[in-house]
Amino acid sequence: MQTRTLGSTGPAVSALGLGAMGMSDVYGAADRAESVATVHASLEAGVTLIDTGDFYAMGHNELLLAEALRGRDRDSYRLSVKFGMLRGPGHDFGGADARPEAVKNFLAYSLTRLGTDHIDIYRPARLDPTVPIEETVGAIKEMVDAGYVRHIGLSEVDAATIRRGHAVHPITDLQIEYSLISRAVEADILPTLRELGIGLTAYGVLSRGLISGHWSADRTAGPGDFRAFSPRFSNGNVEHNLALVEALRRVAEAKGCTVAQMAIAWVAAQGEDIVPLVGARTRERLAEALPAMDLTLTADDLAEIEKAVPQGAARGDRYPSAFMSGLGVGN
Ligand SMILES: NC(=O)c1ccc[n+]([C@@H]2O[C@H](COP(=O)([O-])OP(=O)(O)OC[C@H]3O[C@@H](n4cnc5c(N)ncnc54)[C@H](OP(=O)(O)O)[C@@H]3O)[C@@H](O)[C@H]2O)c1
Repeated sequence: MQTRTLGSTGPAVSALGLGAMGMSDVYGAADRAESVATVHASLEAGVTLIDTGDFYAMGHNELLLAEALRGRDRDSYRLSVKFGMLRGPGHDFGGADARPEAVKNFLAYSLTRLGTDHIDIYRPARLDPTVPIEETVGAIKEMVDAGYVRHIGLSEVDAATIRRGHAVHPITDLQIEYSLISRAVEADILPTLRELGIGLTAYGVLSRGLISGHWSADRTAGPGDFRAFSPRFSNGNVEHNLALVEALRRVAEAKGCTVAQMAIAWVAAQGEDIVPLVGARTRERLAEALPAMDLTLTADDLAEIEKAVPQGAARGDRYPSAFMSGLGVGN
């Protein structure tokens, strides 16, 4: 597994990261034993970056990772943890809380659930509109100084917020959606990150499975599955979006890889400062994702991919409307 360094101040991590969210939340039921086995298979393949959030099924995901990572050398992997999303007992989302006192409270719970004395990269999942980013980053900086956190990241914020946060303490990486069908980061965010020496960890590189080559219009998302109410998966849009996937499939077949591998490799090819996260929750999906990092896309390949999936070609917002205003960029 190749490595990439997160920004000018961050750690070297595997060029592909594992996102653990789907092992607990957002895409419906997952199999616990298979989730643990998938984490183990990732580590054995050389994956050293694992991403979670304290709100992924209200601590469930952190406890799952604690179980999967028990007994491993703590220096052999890096944990990226998001915090700040408020949820209710019915799993509904209730906004963000990134006040300094909340930062410390969330961190204390995460450390306990994860069974560790430090988090490698700690980040607010969303901007709390009532709290200046300087205060949130300032509180995490205190936790860096106290030894509980190694690096500070951000998630889904705009370019101006990145600059303000970075002025308080160096930001290691921004986590944000980036895929063949979600390219809004290319306008302002990526140039800002590159100017400041901040890395990008890309999520949704398979657009939550939509551009993985495994989704079909007749596949229905069950209860608790984000895809049941995601505009890109809704009737009318999904057929259009899957036609783009079929065009991508033809390019992938000519290259001798799968659609998912091509979509992951495309994100990785956008810069050495970008680390794609994949949300594999089974060993089978992981085994498909890993070889993507050995795929070299030539300028001709990239042009063919662009022809198959032109920028802005997807239909539907990347989140339901109630969540769009909390994002750093549009689609
Ligand atoms: N900062 C943020 O706001 C934010 C938001 C969302 C996610 N994240 C992080 O980013 C990680 C990745 O995001 P994501 O899970 O939404 O995105 P993703 O990797 O685009 O989608 C994952 C889904 O794609 C499907 N899939 C099909 N083929 C696959 C393959 N070969 N490898 C992996 N998945 C395949 C799987 O669905 P099936 O299992 O149903 O086939 C899987 O659940 C998350 O786990 C989380 O840690 C961050």
